[in-house]
Amino acid sequence: MRTDTPSTPLTIYRKDYIAPGFWVDTVEMGFDLDPIATHVATRMTMRRNPESSEKDIVLFGESLKLLQLRINGVSVKKSSYSIENGILRIRNAPDELTLDIETLIQPAKNTSLSGLYVSNNNFFTQCEAEGFRKITFFPDRPDVMAKYTVMLRGDKKKYPVLLSNGNLIAEGDLPGGRHFAKWEDPFKKPSYLFALVAGKLVCQQEKYKLKSGRKVLLQVWVEDGNLDKTQHAMDSLKNSIRWDEERFGLELDLDRFMIVAVSDFNMGAMENKGLNIFNTKYVLANPSIATDVDYAGIESVVGHEYFHNWTGNRVTCRDWFQLSLKEGLTVFRDQEFSADLVGTATGRAVKRIEDVRLLRQVQFSEDAGPMAHPVRPDSFVEINNFYTVTIYEKGSEVVRMYYTLLGHDGFRKGMDLYFQRHDGQAVECDDFRAAMADSSGRNLKQFERWYSQAGTPRVKVESSYDKASKTYELTLSQSCPATPGQSKKLPFHIPVAVGLLNSNGKDLVLNLEGQATPSKATTVVLELTSAKQTFRFTGVAKKPVPSILRNFSAPVVLEYEYTDEELGHLLAHDSDAFNRWEAGQRLAMRRLVKLTKSVLQGEALELDSMFVEALRSTLNDRTLDPSFRELVLTLPSEAMVAEEFKEVNPQAIHQARQFMRSSLTQQLRADLLTAYEENLTPGKYSPDAVSAAKRGLKNLALSYLLEWPEDATFALAKTQFDEAQNMTDRLAALTALTNFSGSAKNAKVSAQALQKFFRDFKKEALVIDKWFMLQGTARTTDAAKVRELMKHPAFTLSNPNRARSLAFSFCNANPSRFHAADGSGYALWADLVVALNKLNPQVAARLARSLDRWRKYPKALQVQMKAALQRVADTSKLSKDVLEVVTKALA
Ligand code: ARG
Ligand code: ZN
Repeated sequence: MRTDTPSTPLTIYRKDYIAPGFWVDTVEMGFDLDPIATHVATRMTMRRNPESSEKDIVLFGESLKLLQLRINGVSVKKSSYSIENGILRIRNAPDELTLDIETLIQPAKNTSLSGLYVSNNNFFTQCEAEGFRKITFFPDRPDVMAKYTVMLRGDKKKYPVLLSNGNLIAEGDLPGGRHFAKWEDPFKKPSYLFALVAGKLVCQQEKYKLKSGRKVLLQVWVEDGNLDKTQHAMDSLKNSIRWDEERFGLELDLDRFMIVAVSDFNMGAMENKGLNIFNTKYVLANPSIATDVDYAGIESVVGHEYFHNWTGNRVTCRDWFQLSLKEGLTVFRDQEFSADLVGTATGRAVKRIEDVRLLRQVQFSEDAGPMAHPVRPDSFVEINNFYTVTIYEKGSEVVRMYYTLLGHDGFRKGMDLYFQRHDGQAVECDDFRAAMADSSGRNLKQFERWYSQAGTPRVKVESSYDKASKTYELTLSQSCPATPGQSKKLPFHIPVAVGLLNSNGKDLVLNLEGQATPSKATTVVLELTSAKQTFRFTGVAKKPVPSILRNFSAPVVLEYEYTDEELGHLLAHDSDAFNRWEAGQRLAMRRLVKLTKSVLQGEALELDSMFVEALRSTLNDRTLDPSFRELVLTLPSEAMVAEEFKEVNPQAIHQARQFMRSSLTQQLRADLLTAYEENLTPGKYSPDAVSAAKRGLKNLALSYLLEWPEDATFALAKTQFDEAQNMTDRLAALTALTNFSGSAKNAKVSAQALQKFFRDFKKEALVIDKWFMLQGTARTTDAAKVRELMKHPAFTLSNPNRARSLAFSFCNANPSRFHAADGSGYALWADLVVALNKLNPQVAARLARSLDRWRKYPKALQVQMKAALQRVADTSKLSKDVLEVVTKALA
């Protein structure tokens, strides 16, 4: 009998949680690996949970062929069980039992990349969230934790390496050219952390000494030919281990820790116990194939997965509504890890700015659309659709607010209590909040609303200064827009970090009335808990300039009517580097909005000198870190500008932003050239923060310089492309060349460079992804061009990285072309979603979200977007993943 996915998608509600009817203590599995038909034998010891209202054994299964079902060695009678809608239900089971299940699965046919699948002839698994049920029938829910022993058998030539979680306890040969390996994981774990890997792989390995003196074996497994690209992942792993010991007192609990890279993977990476499986994108690096951004990405993802070993694996989630319990916390930890590794104050701020940019650009937009959901959702149709920026990035902001409210040591105490209470358990977001509250003695009841209410709060600030009494008042009021299913919101508990600058740009020492401020404090955290509150500072000799929401102390939109002079003052002087950058962004955004309106009204475009001069002095300020200067000079993206409008006109925004870029180039040409020359990094490539920062500023300067059609700067980019010693410089030059709009002669040179790049790197899949990505986001690329590129022999939709490199980059990162007036972008989008739906529902559903915000566009575009959405919704055999997304978009 073959079971299928449920036919009518059901909404699952958090309030419906019931504890499992049976616990599983041990799981023994045997795999006979074969791409066509893998035989899986599972034996579990189970015992009734007297506290549950569920009396049956409830097992989930998908795309499985059931061969055997035995209780205590006896086949279960047909009349005692049923299989319906992916659920195997056994009635009248004894209180304690051994359950044997044999299933047959087809890994080679599994294009969903969830469950057991084949990639380049090797076997891999991905079980989070509900992939284990595609391997065997199981109570596949995170609150069922068991100890696993896994026996892998397979052809020795084809699959010389056999890996699973935990420790290798036996291996040997079998008749018929086969062999086996037996693995035992000493820790109880939920099924989503199960993993196996089998195939032709090689590893870089090292014995590493923990702080306690215990030695552990670290391995990074890759396909043959990639051992020259594993050093950075290994270094990142060692840094992660050390950081978790030092910052949180958490030690690696296994004797062996493995990372495996796979080129077909739905997401970034997966924290399976002791056997992390990674997208190659987050493992493989050397100077000739990886950019500085790639190096940083690897470091943070290796950290992220490693940190999950405590926040996720040792303490896991009771149910999937609690996903942010592990993801928000682990993102916070990986962000802190990356910041600590850079070490400098500016380095920390730069990391913070990058993280906030992502949050604002993607999460704020999610929060304002049809898929908006709380950090702890109340319902879902398909859990895979809820691995979102809200769960991850906003979840991390929520954790960061505890850190801001409780302080460094207070937060650590809370973490210690959390582990003390919950090690080995599957718990809820509320348990984390309780640990933070109980360890600090603080009342965090209202803080719960950060978990239950969706939407981005807005904090409006008004100031007044009274000269006679030397008092300065800030009045804060908060509101939060309605989101699907939540029309009214209650006030949040918002930490707002504030400083006051005097006319010399120096921080004032703050006296906040009614609150004991630490002596000499120049930043205080105002706790906004009501709809409206006034805070009064005393002893303020002159009217100051407020620096509000320092370091972005809460995930909110701050509204304060700054004058341009005040923003210029903050940009020049704020001791808080985040707000210093923010001031520059506000200056730019104000102008971008105005320019866009001018474009729409057919008015002449102009850029004022105040702004140009403010950027010039930042660019030329050598006391500032190059990475910080780069961020200040980076204009808000078109997507960010779009958020400022009720009705979005992508072409007008593009034109306005391009105008700003080319005017800046025209006026800052000499300064940009100097920045270019001062930040060359000759010699051997190193991905360290200092050299990466230099390359970043240099390449930003280059991209500006080519905004102004001039043969000399074109030649500069061409030379950089030809002579580049690393991928960062090569790709930056190629991008600038491709987007250059000059003579036909230059266009030809650019086209040749693009072809050369392909030839030089055709064996490096990750570089070819960049090649497609560059074209997907190129200014001249329209839907027709994307369709043409899709016919390229190197293109395929079956590999998620490749699909993302072209399709996603065009639909999500090339707005003025994607939203072409003729609807060609939307037609392409619909074709892609329908094609991907058949192959890989998870990836399809991600792409489906590109039209989430269709209601924000002019009527003429809305009509076409709605038609495209409808076309997808009407497709037969739509996965519940895609169905949920398009149904919510159309609702
Ligand atoms: N837990 C993994 C991580 O954050 C991601 C798993 C994503 N799973 C999914 N079904 N989308 O590292
Ligand atoms: Zn994670």
